[in-house]
Amino acid sequence: MNAPELTEDDPLGLYQRTTETGIEWWRVSVADRPESYRLEHGIDQPEVAGSVDIDLVVDAENLRAKLKKWRREGFAIDIGEAASDERAAGRVGFISELQRAAARARRTNGLVADHGNGTVQVGTVQVPRGVAHPLVPRVNPAYLFPARFDDIVQDIVENRRVMLIGHTGAGKTSLIEQVAARSLHGVLRANMNGQTTAGDFVGFWTVKGGETLWVDGVLPTAMREGHWLIVDEIDFAEPSILAALTAVLEPHGRLVLKERGNEIVAPHPAFRLFATANAVGAMSQFRHLYQGANLMNEAFLDRWRVHMLDYLTPAEESDVLVRTLAPHMTRALAATLAAIAADCRAAFAREDLSSAFSTRRLLDWAELMLRTGDPERAAGPAIYAKVSPEDAALIRGIIRHHIAPAA
Ligand SMILES: Nc1ncnc2c1ncn2[C@@H]1O[C@H](COP(=O)(O)OP(=O)(O)O)[C@@H](O)[C@H]1O
Ligand SMILES: [Mg+2]
Repeated sequence: MNAPELTEDDPLGLYQRTTETGIEWWRVSVADRPESYRLEHGIDQPEVAGSVDIDLVVDAENLRAKLKKWRREGFAIDIGEAASDERAAGRVGFISELQRAAARARRTNGLVADHGNGTVQVGTVQVPRGVAHPLVPRVNPAYLFPARFDDIVQDIVENRRVMLIGHTGAGKTSLIEQVAARSLHGVLRANMNGQTTAGDFVGFWTVKGGETLWVDGVLPTAMREGHWLIVDEIDFAEPSILAALTAVLEPHGRLVLKERGNEIVAPHPAFRLFATANAVGAMSQFRHLYQGANLMNEAFLDRWRVHMLDYLTPAEESDVLVRTLAPHMTRALAATLAAIAADCRAAFAREDLSSAFSTRRLLDWAELMLRTGDPERAAGPAIYAKVSPEDAALIRGIIRHHIAPAA
């Protein structure tokens, strides 16, 4: 027989009434047995242990009768208030409790596992050092590591799969390369927009001098040798490449080379996997600017730490200009140039401009104008020749807005 329905949708909670001697209460909770309820009764302070004088288990029908009786006797349910008090306490106490927990976690995780070569400080993070190798990128001494990059670098140290999303030229690839350059790790890149086939990526059989040879693709090469692999523009990758990648997205994930009789490739401890994309996740609001990009599904994205990288701020970018083009670039010149770049990017985001304005383009233009002494002439090969006539006209207008022509 089915238990009769309770009049209340949710009978659980605290029922209270005020008497001469204090607050009298009944608490209804779920009992261990199915379809039964635990009833506790007491006077005053339901949270104090030992204040319970009745403790029994009833079925649903019995509870319904009790609820009727309590209502007659003037008990009112306090579930909302109790729950919201508890919620309010949690809301207020959360951050301080979290900070204590995070401090404990930092103490226990403080020691970085290195590969036996010590560590290098990048920003404020200690990164395990690799070894010199032709694939280690060159250090760019003018490269700026703002404090907001620390979380990304920490994710690299912890062997997370890191995806950087942001506009073209925001600095996604160079960030990874500069961490690798400073910590002596080789970098391999595979661009998914066009050139890279599944064979390039995973590997292929070939015939050489009458012999059949297996050639590792970039993924098994990086995994075996402990290089860092950047999968650029991952939102253009073909499904067979994404399938191969999915297998190694776990920190110690192995690659199975089906083409080689299911050979298993285990990752070298120094191996790291990165991806970059323009229009994924939080950047998908800009999809119209990046034609042909695929939406990545959430399950795939959840296997990555996805960091959004914006262009450097004008103050940071002037800093980079001054440092890169020392000793001739002045602060005043740099500030104006950074402001022009910022205006061009705003025009790109509004779709007034169809070409992005990277820090690389700005640096190149600045370098050329230090040679020519003429911003307009320098803009020819550094900017105008690379964009459509409409874009060139608009950029020329932005530049004129910031720089009065020579008298
Ligand atoms: N933090 C930075 N400090 C110095 N230069 C930077 C920084 N970020 C980006 N740049 C410059 O911008 C250029 C373009 O960055 P890149 O990594 O190629 O962008 P993306 O991969 O996002 O398209 C780099 O070559 C570098 O010169
Ligand atoms: Mg790039």
